[in-house]
Amino acid sequence: AHFSAAKKPLTGRHVLVTAGPTHEPIDPVRYIANRSSGRQGFAIAGALARMGARVTLVAGPVALDTPPGVTRIDVETACQMADAADKALPADAAVCVAAVADWRTSDEASGKLKKSQDGLPHLNLVENPDILARLSSGGKRRPGLVVGFAAETDDVVNHAMAKRLRKGCDWIVANDVSVESGVMGGGDNTVHLVTDTGVEDWPTLPKQAVAERLAERIAGALS
Ligand code: CTP
Ligand code: CA
Repeated sequence: AHFSAAKKPLTGRHVLVTAGPTHEPIDPVRYIANRSSGRQGFAIAGALARMGARVTLVAGPVALDTPPGVTRIDVETACQMADAADKALPADAAVCVAAVADWRTSDEASGKLKKSQDGLPHLNLVENPDILARLSSGGKRRPGLVVGFAAETDDVVNHAMAKRLRKGCDWIVANDVSVESGVMGGGDNTVHLVTDTGVEDWPTLPKQAVAERLAERIAGALS
């Protein structure tokens, strides 16, 4: 089939997408993780590919098929995700949808921890690399457009505006993940797009439609 340039406006562009959770091992049988199905990130990767982009999708552990035309790199931990994202550069745009675990244990146990009479095990936590902040401050290697996501349970837009400035990214897609919103694990998403010029409230849409709308906005910004 032939697609016109208008339909494939991202032809020749490379976009990096992170998606899914990360798993930070505690011992061989346990890990710390965020709640994330990966569906929104995979939908975004697919939508970008359909618009002609070369897409590198760095994915944490999820049970999803790779969208057609997308190059997928599977990782488990935040450190692996940060390395894979770095290796995927240069990119024209980066979209960080992953729910990266903020902390990992500094000392993964080589054997399974056992319950004991002596009390609870102690987990020593250290902070994980911030992939979005790192991409945003990437100097010459910085993608021209860096987009982050912010999952918030209250005061969604204000937190997202502060997060945009703190991370140094261009846009934040803020989503309401309060239990009442039903976003976690559901098929729909209610988001607000926070840019340097203001805040757009998008209607509640299927994650696929959010993905297409965002891909179109990215194409517009890169054109
Ligand atoms: N992110 C990232 N690497 C991390 C943490 C977060 O790339 N180590 C990205 C996420 O993919 C998302 C954005 O940063 O695009 C915001 O994530 P969020 O967890 O909301 O931000 P944090 O700075 O971790 O703040 P919070 O304390 O609210 O968790
Ligand atoms: Ca976080």
